[in-house]
Amino acid sequence: MNFSDAKSNILQILSRTDCQDLTKLISWMKHSDDLDNYLVDNQRAILQSIADDLRSCLPLEAVFPSETMAIQKTQQNPKPTVHVDAFLYDEETVDSLCEDGKMSRNFCLTCGSHRTAPMEFISHSFSISELQFLFLHVLPDLAGKLVVDVGSRLGAVLYGGYLYSAAAQLVGVEICEEFVKLQTMTVEKYGFSDRIKVIHDNICSQSMLLQNADVLIMNNVFEYFMEPKDQVRAWQFISQNFLKKGALLVTVPSIQDALISLQETNEITAIGHWLQEVPVDYNAFLQNDTDLDSLKQIHLYRVL
Ligand SMILES: C[S@@+](CC[C@H](N)C(=O)[O-])C[C@H]1O[C@@H](n2cnc3c(N)ncnc32)[C@H](O)[C@@H]1O
Repeated sequence: MNFSDAKSNILQILSRTDCQDLTKLISWMKHSDDLDNYLVDNQRAILQSIADDLRSCLPLEAVFPSETMAIQKTQQNPKPTVHVDAFLYDEETVDSLCEDGKMSRNFCLTCGSHRTAPMEFISHSFSISELQFLFLHVLPDLAGKLVVDVGSRLGAVLYGGYLYSAAAQLVGVEICEEFVKLQTMTVEKYGFSDRIKVIHDNICSQSMLLQNADVLIMNNVFEYFMEPKDQVRAWQFISQNFLKKGALLVTVPSIQDALISLQETNEITAIGHWLQEVPVDYNAFLQNDTDLDSLKQIHLYRVL
């Protein structure tokens, strides 16, 4: 039923309601929690169900012991840092895990004292809200397009793209075999295999895929998973193969920030010259749980 049919049905019901109950009914419609479930869109409910499934297959920190570099890099951060996967754990879930003592937002400045400071949280996945923002507000209509997620991990981008866009094909390339298995299992369980494919490989061996891609998504792919010199090589490989005129690249953080941290200025100044940044309206998407700072990390570029 579309909006105008639904509206005339509601007006009909109101016209047939006993006068003495009319105010009560309208007040119920305006304020009751009974209607909350109708405000959760079906796609979000599917993504939440996938997150529930994946949580039960992973340790709390959602990092496999085989990811030694990611574990080391997290531990080497100057400020105590934990990985809390934003696709698996929204703010509410983190709050309830903190209440149960399973997670903490603070660390002790002097062991045993009450002097505490906030922990640094990092996430290796987009949250459901970020996925909605990405596919409904940042990217244009993707009908007929090939979307490639570099380092697809849990598959959050692939499922988000399947549910919130008309992309013809969504391909995830992931170097970690355990995550490829989790994605394959999810794609089969939810019947997404008509439009989603997951490849177990290093993106640097996928030149054809990069050449055919219309949209490339790179959510902080390399920082925690590759040595700086390998990151520079991977960026060079992408800049030499992702060349379709007008194709779109989404990065977190901006390319400039990703490359500056590599401090290999001579090699990296050449990278990025094949792109033009496209402005993003970060205020287009304001929901209760939106973290504007994290949305502002999402950058969009067009291939020249
Ligand atoms: C930060 S996660 C991104 C997750 C996902 N794209 C998202 O936005 O929710 C980065 C992932 O990239 C993978 N990765 C790192 N280097 C890679 C490479 N060269 N080729 C393929 N995958 C890579 C890592 O194993 C990790 O799972």
